[in-house]
Amino acid sequence: MDFNLSEEQIMIREAARDFAKAELLPGVIERDELEKFPTEQIKKMGELGFLGMMVDPKYGGGGMDTVSYVMAIEEISKVDASASVVMSVNNSLVCWGIETYGTEEHKQKYLTRLATGEVIGAFALSEPEAGSDATKQRTIAEDKGDYYLLNGTKNWITSGNSADIFLVIAHTHPEKGHKGINAFIVEKGWEGFEVGPKEKKMGIRGSDTHSLLFTDVKVPKENRIGEDGFGFTFAMKTLSGGRIGIASQALGIAAGAYERALQYSKERKAFGKEISKHQAIAFKLADMKTKIEAARHLIMKAAWDKDQHKDYNLSGAIAKYFAAEMAMWVTTEAVQIHGGYGYVKEYHVERMMRDAKITQIYEGTSEIQQIVISRSILRD
Ligand code: CAA
Repeated sequence: MDFNLSEEQIMIREAARDFAKAELLPGVIERDELEKFPTEQIKKMGELGFLGMMVDPKYGGGGMDTVSYVMAIEEISKVDASASVVMSVNNSLVCWGIETYGTEEHKQKYLTRLATGEVIGAFALSEPEAGSDATKQRTIAEDKGDYYLLNGTKNWITSGNSADIFLVIAHTHPEKGHKGINAFIVEKGWEGFEVGPKEKKMGIRGSDTHSLLFTDVKVPKENRIGEDGFGFTFAMKTLSGGRIGIASQALGIAAGAYERALQYSKERKAFGKEISKHQAIAFKLADMKTKIEAARHLIMKAAWDKDQHKDYNLSGAIAKYFAAEMAMWVTTEAVQIHGGYGYVKEYHVERMMRDAKITQIYEGTSEIQQIVISRSILRD
């Protein structure tokens, strides 16, 4: 087992850390407060190659491995989880999905622009009545010969308004259950495609989450991804990798909150000494550090599995489940260590605690990860 990182991997982590401090930290509290999308910052992330990190350079990507990618997500998430969810969805759902299963034409037309950050992408699976139970799509794409007619509503779509390219999952043959589902590349601006109102969220308030409404949208036949009926498998396979990205986001949020709590505990005095010198606080810090390291190892293992072309459905689900639960716990403890200061915005940790919550919900709730994990162990 080799736990060493290559020089290139270390450089990527440093670049993400520097970018987060220089470009994301100023204004992160204000963007959260005002629910402001980090437009300029995302543009710069694209220019620096953070939006298509693993994409083949011939399509404008960085050609990096998943280990580098998860470390970059962690660093960005330590500072701004609203920016990191945009990065995660673009890299591991949209770019990966198109690069792995799209045609050469899809790659030339869409992937090159997504990988360079010229445009950003969104992944539209969830619906008002189909979140966890992803086969129960009501959105219909009716086969009309050389195009599909798309009708339906998608909910809670990350980058719903900012994205230009959407991967939309819809039923083409509802009677066939999950085998009657397809995935389509849909462009913003097509007739009948409307972006619904912005959701008012508890956390990741800088990211824009919207519903999407499709009314008789004509989707060219060539924009279907894969063979007819491949859509559910496509969504599941894409989400398996996406979960490694969200696990890294959870890790970053937790690590960011921990670093702030550690620093604060060395400065704040109570009962005649720094609070870090009280065992009640020192033990909390020890537990936080231990759980963060455990999550990091699980994430690295899942990323390594993916890089080695091994199956990562299970390791990704384990990493996401553990990291999300850990992040909720660690950020809550970080607020606790800060006491009253932790409850106000200037100290960042209250935002991190709110941001952590979504990692237990999106790209499969913690309970969905438990389903994936338990099915895997019971099958063995
Ligand atoms: N890879 C490949 N195929 C898979 C798969 C995987 N990881 N998981 C399931 N499948 C296949 C199965 O093999 C099966 O195929 P066959 O019938 O041909 O054998 C088929 O899919 C159906 O599988 P299941 O019977 O296991 O399906 P299920 O209905 O019981 O659901 C589930 C499985 C894991 C619970 C799934 O529904 C699921 O993951 N739900 C959560 C959905 C989710 O994560 N939504 C997040 C929305 S996206 C988002 O949040 C993005 C964002 O904005 C941040």
